[in-house]
Amino acid sequence: MASEKAAAYRDLAAQFAALIAGETDLVANAANLAALIYHGLPALNWAGFYFARGGELVLGPFQGKPACVRIAWGQGVCGTAAARAAAIVVPDVDEFPGHIACDAASRSELVVPLVAAGRVVGVLDLDSPLLARFDDADREGCERLAALLLSQHPELR
Ligand code: SME
Repeated sequence: MASEKAAAYRDLAAQFAALIAGETDLVANAANLAALIYHGLPALNWAGFYFARGGELVLGPFQGKPACVRIAWGQGVCGTAAARAAAIVVPDVDEFPGHIACDAASRSELVVPLVAAGRVVGVLDLDSPLLARFDDADREGCERLAALLLSQHPELR
């Protein structure tokens, strides 16, 4: 199971590396990564980005239902991961104090911060309608995908 997941993330990383090769537009690359994740991994109802803008998180490219546009630093799972500069795996969103319910179908969540030169420049957020959908293999896989995106965008550093 864990090795299947790792293989799926390796495959996604290879596809994403091919998609971003030579492309410098952040919106285009983030949009393609959101689409790759959403359509490439099972049991997701949302996958996308929030970017740091003026001390808060603002919605970026995503797949899924329309979502809250602005999240305060330190609020919700996304704002907490941004403030801690650390990934958060939430097995049950109802157990996470302050969870922001953009889509009522979401039961579990994974948020990975985008850290460039020691600064959090955004987050990658995945939601699932299943409880406990995400584990360490998902966290590591998504951290790798986020690192690939950042490696293509020196302007974020
Ligand atoms: N649930 C997130 C908000 C973003 S949506 O899930 C797309 C949170 O608590 O930060």
